[in-house]
Amino acid sequence: MRAVRYHGPRQPLRLEELETPTPGPGDLLVRVTAASLCHTELHFLSGLLNLGVAPLTLGHEIVGRVERVGEGVPPGRVGERVIVYYYEGCGRCPHCLRGDENLCDALRAEHGFVTDGGFAEYVSVPARNAVPLPDGIADAEAAPIGCGVTTAVHAAALAQVGLGDWVVVYGAGAVGFGLVQVARLRGARVIAVGRTPAKLDVARALGAEAVVRAGAEDVADRVRAVTAGRGADVVFELVATRETMAASARALAKRGRLVFVGYSEDALEIHPIQLVVGEQIVTGVVGNTLAELEEAVELVATGRVKTVVDRVLPLERFQEGLDALAAGRLVGRAVLAP
Ligand SMILES: NC(=O)c1ccc[n+]([C@@H]2O[C@H](COP(=O)([O-])OP(=O)(O)OC[C@H]3O[C@@H](n4cnc5c(N)ncnc54)[C@H](OP(=O)(O)O)[C@@H]3O)[C@@H](O)[C@H]2O)c1
Ligand SMILES: [Zn+2]
Ligand SMILES: [Zn+2]
Repeated sequence: MRAVRYHGPRQPLRLEELETPTPGPGDLLVRVTAASLCHTELHFLSGLLNLGVAPLTLGHEIVGRVERVGEGVPPGRVGERVIVYYYEGCGRCPHCLRGDENLCDALRAEHGFVTDGGFAEYVSVPARNAVPLPDGIADAEAAPIGCGVTTAVHAAALAQVGLGDWVVVYGAGAVGFGLVQVARLRGARVIAVGRTPAKLDVARALGAEAVVRAGAEDVADRVRAVTAGRGADVVFELVATRETMAASARALAKRGRLVFVGYSEDALEIHPIQLVVGEQIVTGVVGNTLAELEEAVELVATGRVKTVVDRVLPLERFQEGLDALAAGRLVGRAVLAP
């Protein structure tokens, strides 16, 4: 099969021929039909995120058809349309026992991170990780649910976004579009921050009540103005550069939650006095649980959340997708169709 392989930090991804995996006991083989590029791919390439595993097939937003089943998996699953849950927890650590597989102390697999992922014609995953997709969501449209929407569902839950909260989504990209919609569904009022007008237009169409153009306006001042001086109850940081973190911190309300979803090479600098006086919380979120993936699929299937796809490319044109992502030219996801 053909696969797009990662060879470590600052090495280009390469299209290569590999053995098609054979599904082991309890696993099934998925013929990948759509796998989208997440910004995290760029962190792997720059070396900012280095999990020490190479060579590796990246891709953690994966949709396809079940082609074969391993021992012990019902043959009736062949032909099923599925989306992949990318974590495989140990099932026994305190985090797994609570359902927080994303925090597992002894992960068995993490597809597209330390285990082969979806930028390939086939991927073998545990049967439990292949979540059935209802009809009515096209493959390309479904792929960004795998991280884009699930991360939003998880982040909004952890930040306890609730009725009447003012929520800032700082970074109007793919995960940001998910957050705008999920925050709205939880009863919040949303301000989207970005630089590219076309992305802010999409954020507005998806439910952001106000949009702020970073660079053209002072972000924190505008957030204060829109919220009548209160500031944001929750800021989701999807960019996290020195400049955006400073603005995010200044935009935060009393008891506000500054939630890191994204990261850059820059470190956070915030004076504890601000946190003390305002009783503010700084936190991070990672990934999602299997239950949250199922919730995310349901949200999209019922039309309450939309994914945004900029373009669909054949596998061999992966570099075009990566370049467009790195240049900020994508409005939503680029999806590879192996
Ligand atoms: N924690 C997790 O589990 C998790 C999951 C998925 C992704 N992530 C991380 O979350 C971040 C976002 O991911 P994504 O896939 O949504 O990325 P993305 O699609 O590239 O979206 C990020 C957006 O931020 C905007 N932006 C960049 N610099 C900005 C600035 N200075 N001011 C305002 N907006 C700015 C860009 O749009 P403009 O053109 O408007 O600048 C870009 O579209 C990445 O760091 C990614 O690695 C984390
Ligand atoms: Zn991702
Ligand atoms: Zn575990």
